[in-house]
Amino acid sequence: MDELLKWRGQFPILERSTYLISNSLGAMPLGVYDKMREYADAWATRGVRAWEETWWDLARQVGERLGRLIGAPGGTISLHQNVTLTEAVVASCFDFHGPRNKIVLVDVEFPSIIYFYKAQEARGARVEIIESEDGIRVPLEKLLAAIDEQTLLVPVSLVLFRSAAIMDARAIVERAERVGARVVLDVYQAAGTLPIDLARMGTHFAVGGVLKWLCGGPGVAFLYCRSDLRRGLVPAITGWLAHKRPFGFEVGPIDLTEDAYRTMNGTPQIPALYACQPGLEIVAEAGVERIREKSIRQTERLIQGALARGWHVSTPLNAAERGGTVSIDCPHAQEVMKELVARSILVDYRPQAGVRLSPHFYNRDEEFNFALDQIQEILSTGAWERHFQWRTVAS
Ligand SMILES: Cc1ncc(COP(=O)(O)O)c(C=O)c1O
Repeated sequence: MDELLKWRGQFPILERSTYLISNSLGAMPLGVYDKMREYADAWATRGVRAWEETWWDLARQVGERLGRLIGAPGGTISLHQNVTLTEAVVASCFDFHGPRNKIVLVDVEFPSIIYFYKAQEARGARVEIIESEDGIRVPLEKLLAAIDEQTLLVPVSLVLFRSAAIMDARAIVERAERVGARVVLDVYQAAGTLPIDLARMGTHFAVGGVLKWLCGGPGVAFLYCRSDLRRGLVPAITGWLAHKRPFGFEVGPIDLTEDAYRTMNGTPQIPALYACQPGLEIVAEAGVERIREKSIRQTERLIQGALARGWHVSTPLNAAERGGTVSIDCPHAQEVMKELVARSILVDYRPQAGVRLSPHFYNRDEEFNFALDQIQEILSTGAWERHFQWRTVAS
């Protein structure tokens, strides 16, 4: 008996589709309807009083709840709109004009992060990008060797978005500590599917969001900052919520608060802070350890099913080295993905990875078996061809 299936009924889309895309957008829990009504009621009936009664402190409360799911001690999380902006808040605490101005990245990092740091070259940053040899993993030795005395930041994903390979965060943090660099660990593809203890990992910063494995919807990203570093941080991207006395409306330089709001700036994303709560609650009840156990079992079977059909799997085969996604690079993967979606089997496609399938705690084994059978049928009947475009071949 799969205990975790007891939450299945809480996710309406599971009745209407084969939902294997929690790496991109976790399914919406029913409780979101009530939360959105609660938000609308507060606005409609309490009006401006809602700020004082609930809204001003909401980002703090949700941050605490989220922190418990990723091993972040109280008061270490601030919430933002998306991960890219969250990285920008971190980067704004540093000066790229001194001799320590190097940013070490990997080429299989989520592109938005690469775009952001490359854009910082105009502000004096020097970006070094370490290449993956197989598109699946990053050679750890090469990455560690690049982290030297001139390195300022190492923004790196714990789980890579394309291949779901897990990076050795401990080794990266240790190396960074030794040379005085700071690690910004992106746990977006890990939070909610892989047990994480940020405090034990020792990372300086961590970023991520709730819309994937945490089933929290768009609009809430988080920034973790190690407690001992926070007091020294002076973000250039700042605003009144980071002031010790925001309602003093004082003019002049900011007097930064010493708590987690130090890295905040303007008005928080209130509707999203309501919407994300049911997902966080369910994931906490289900337990990330149990979710991980199930994920290992299901991704293992998914991989075996793909290999048995002769398809290339661009995800580590060893469970300890991968997160919750299996990327299957079958023939015509992009067209196959389009046909799967047309058949309400919701998955996605990434170049150099293939079709990404991500069973989560609410999925039954039959669902990914069905997806595998459908891929086989789409290939054998040529159903993929109706999605074929010359442009997709050329790209
Ligand atoms: C690992 C990782 N980092 C960052 C992002 C993008 O973050 P955002 O759109 O919130 O800036 C994604 C998106 O899907 C991701 O998988």
